[in-house]
Amino acid sequence: MSKERSEILMEYLVTRGFIWPSFEIYRSMVEVGGFYDYGPLGVELKRNIIEKWRRVFIYPYQDIIYEIETPIIMPEIVFQASGHLEHFTDYIVECLKCGRKYRADHLVEEELKKRGINIRTEGLSERDIEKLIIEHGIRCPQCGGELSKVYRFNLLFRTTIGPYSNNVGYIRPETAQGMFVSFPRVFDLAGRKLPFGIAQIGKVGRNEISPRQGLIRLREFSQMEIELFFDPKNPTCPFLDDVRDVTVRVVTEDEVKKAIEEGRDPVPIELKPKDIIERRIVPNEWMAFYMALAVVYLNELGIPVDHQYFLAKLPEERAHYAACAFDQMVYSERFGWIEVSGLAYRTDYDLSRHEKFSGRELRAERTLEKPIEVETVRVYPNPQKIREVYGDKAREVMKLIASIDEENARRLASGESIKLGDYVISPEMVFIKVEKRKITREKFVPHVVEPSFGIDRIVYVTLEHAFTLVDGDKILLKLPPDIAPIKVAVLPLVRKEPLVSIGVKIARELYRKGLKVLYDDDGSIGTRYSRCDELGIPIAITVDDRTVEDNTVTLRDRDTKMQVRAKISDVYNIVRSVIEDRKNLLNLGKELGLELVERA
Ligand code: GAP
Repeated sequence: MSKERSEILMEYLVTRGFIWPSFEIYRSMVEVGGFYDYGPLGVELKRNIIEKWRRVFIYPYQDIIYEIETPIIMPEIVFQASGHLEHFTDYIVECLKCGRKYRADHLVEEELKKRGINIRTEGLSERDIEKLIIEHGIRCPQCGGELSKVYRFNLLFRTTIGPYSNNVGYIRPETAQGMFVSFPRVFDLAGRKLPFGIAQIGKVGRNEISPRQGLIRLREFSQMEIELFFDPKNPTCPFLDDVRDVTVRVVTEDEVKKAIEEGRDPVPIELKPKDIIERRIVPNEWMAFYMALAVVYLNELGIPVDHQYFLAKLPEERAHYAACAFDQMVYSERFGWIEVSGLAYRTDYDLSRHEKFSGRELRAERTLEKPIEVETVRVYPNPQKIREVYGDKAREVMKLIASIDEENARRLASGESIKLGDYVISPEMVFIKVEKRKITREKFVPHVVEPSFGIDRIVYVTLEHAFTLVDGDKILLKLPPDIAPIKVAVLPLVRKEPLVSIGVKIARELYRKGLKVLYDDDGSIGTRYSRCDELGIPIAITVDDRTVEDNTVTLRDRDTKMQVRAKISDVYNIVRSVIEDRKNLLNLGKELGLELVERA
């Protein structure tokens, strides 16, 4: 997008009340980048984008996907377990003269780009980045000062929970952890059957070093995520047929490596989900399924398939939990290719870690192909011997022996003494029974595939794709009707009675039916139609003199400006068909035999 166009878009989004930078009245006093408010139109648009996600990812699969909502603040142990305390870091570098801090990898990329050198820093170590800074003599872009060593900065926002300073908590950097932590409860509710998924939509926080680019890099943003749990021995996805014909553009890991070697941009190939699986581009069917569904989703938001592709992440570029990962990239005229969603194969990493840290079992069960015979050692207290050694403490010791674990039982059976609390237990103090049992089921930690969408980036690319300038400077926001914030406008042709009363009545009727409606009787009809186009309102209803005679109104199609004439009593159903069933207003008019009216 040319600078001018992108500036018009940003100005438009702010003045029309989609979004604006937060804390505006204090901006000159504090450094608070990376936060955006959503205004009335932005809230509606975001809500519709979220609802569309539910319609694509959850509702059709509601028999296995369960949406939950968990807290934004979580105790420290969650992030010790998840690995975020250790790994969720970015590289930072500081100007030794003016004290400004930069995200080191971004600074190197940008400064070298200015010199015509294109370099990828993803996956480089802090020493590698430092070497680049020294080699290329990169200095502070603001004051020209010398730069410090590169170090790691943890992006978690820290807080304390309650009045105790040692009770540390963090704002979640992904909604995912709430789902892993709640796994046993939701899994029980779902009948402990796999495959099964948990979905969550909500706010997250990342203390980004230098957030820029409006909605693209924020410190507080929203995500829509699914953790899909499956048995690694049975990784089949039963829904592949739903996406059989979807074309997915993919840049494979091999292509990424080749492109780096040859110093060129990677080239995506077009594949169907079946090919992606057969060519082993992904390690399981779920990854291919979610790739295709993500393409469908963005396409329904108005982003063409050739403006999207999946980019494989090399091992050194992946998040600490991922065994395989792809970024879903979307073309933005303003920012180039940007990542709007991440698809990761998280294996059993998270559940295993939470199992270890919480001591709670986070497992499913499967039936063994063949039953196996196992030997179990059981240990029972020998009261007489225990009393001889421990006298009046015997009852306490017997209680401890009753809850002995398998490992200690085996040690006693092999003639070793063990320690239980303060007591030494010798083999004479117990009776040992070795039993053979047939086992038909085994426990295992489910594996996870995770599609993770950043809502704010999706809001931006949706708006950018819909934003059209007609005849040079007239704005037309061509949002798909079900995504548009305002669904319908009601416009009396002129501000006079009874047109105004009829218009208000129609608008109120539509409010009551749950539609977002704009009533407007201010100014010329042409100006009002232009305002509707600017706000992306798919249908404008006009009340005119003929309405008074025959109870009909015109319905104007935003994109073609053509109109159909329909009875007031049919308006709601027509609007619903256009909004919800995505029917074209003019085709629908033809189907219903409605009168066609000239462009307006
Ligand atoms: N649970 C996995 C996860 O969080 P991620 O790739 O770190 O994965 C998922 O984040 C998505 O969140 C990204 O694809 C992007 O759309 C969005 N996102 C990440 N950081 C962001 C930021 N600072 N501002 C806005 N959106 C962001």
